[in-house]
Amino acid sequence: MTSIDWAKVRADFPILAQQVNGRPLLYLDNAASSQKPRAVIDAVARYYEHDNANVHRGLHELSSRATDAFEGARGKVARYLGAEHTEEIVFTRGTTEGINLVANTWGAANLKAGDVILLTEMEHHSNLVPWQMLAAKTGAKLRFVPVADDGSLALDGLGELFTPEVKLFAFVHVSNSLGTINPAAELCRAARAVGAVTLVDGAQSAGHMPVNVREIGCDFFTFSGHKICAPTGIGALYGRRELLEKMPPWQGGGEMIVSVTYERATYKQPPHKFEAGTPNIAGAVGLGAAIDYIEGIGRQNIFEHDAELTARAVRHLEEMPGVRVLGPKAPRGALAALHAEWAHPHDLTTFANEHGLALRGGHHCTQPLMRKLRLPGTTRASFYFYNTLEELDRMGAILREAHKFFDR
Ligand SMILES: Cc1ncc(COP(=O)(O)O)c(C=O)c1O
Repeated sequence: MTSIDWAKVRADFPILAQQVNGRPLLYLDNAASSQKPRAVIDAVARYYEHDNANVHRGLHELSSRATDAFEGARGKVARYLGAEHTEEIVFTRGTTEGINLVANTWGAANLKAGDVILLTEMEHHSNLVPWQMLAAKTGAKLRFVPVADDGSLALDGLGELFTPEVKLFAFVHVSNSLGTINPAAELCRAARAVGAVTLVDGAQSAGHMPVNVREIGCDFFTFSGHKICAPTGIGALYGRRELLEKMPPWQGGGEMIVSVTYERATYKQPPHKFEAGTPNIAGAVGLGAAIDYIEGIGRQNIFEHDAELTARAVRHLEEMPGVRVLGPKAPRGALAALHAEWAHPHDLTTFANEHGLALRGGHHCTQPLMRKLRLPGTTRASFYFYNTLEELDRMGAILREAHKFFDR
């Protein structure tokens, strides 16, 4: 048992103390975006009130403070992910930009016709569409690890999928549609055995469980700040130093160059080579504050608390008639997606909203997976450490009312 005072933690989130449609807000859309604690909101405000200036450019006090804050945040991300070197962290807008960066740099420089990009059938569009675009440009082919009936990856046939043509394996750590926690270290080992480079989409894992990129053994890992208590518009890409050093830049502009003539330019070392233009400095400051905040609670504590919340939610859902809960029983990430025979996901989420309950209904940016499962979409409840067991009991009561309302 942990000694965390979860009620005290919850009180750090000002947005949660409000009414929606006359009821206390019950926010269960955390997989889409998390809420922000006062510490993060204050850190961003403090930055703008005291330190705001552009980074790496000016020889004045504020610029040097802004640069220290920005680079300090990079160090926090590096430690948070267990990276060996701070230079292995590139700031991005989020998970999507991290994946696009790898596709447009490492991918464009290394893939050719006949190569295979291995993905899984449970990828978010952001870990699918960039590879489709790259495949169209290079002639590489896409191949998919199937999803088994229980929502886990079908790993039996993995050996056959890892042919020598596989040059990259990009997979989701925790599925945002099913809640599946994929065995990242095992998958990276299998990829390494055929010399394939690995990318882990950590959008749903980075804020919910201990993550160490060296233990996972991946080449790239990417996540979004807004899902881990930080502001929107900031995220990070971890890349192994040897790979980042060999990769060409993506966007060109200020900040990423050493010297420029009218004809050509030379580039800085990573990570700056990949950060053209003025970065999201305030976002990085907020991300650093979010990391401090999460580390103050402890990711193992968060993981265990998430598991308790998720188990309670799943129990409520499984007791309901005509409801199927997707994804493996355990372990599972902090979400539960359901298919109700008696209501379309959009109708169910609209009903929930009238009761102050924020759920998400739809394809969750995994259209091919929904098509494979023959579902129009699902209704998803997703949790974070500030949710309570009482809230999940209230969710159960609202959904039981919904059942009475729709199944007449
Ligand atoms: C598994 C997964 N990958 C990628 C993303 C994309 O994240 P972002 O929109 O922050 O770039 C999400 C967001 O929902 C996600 O859940």
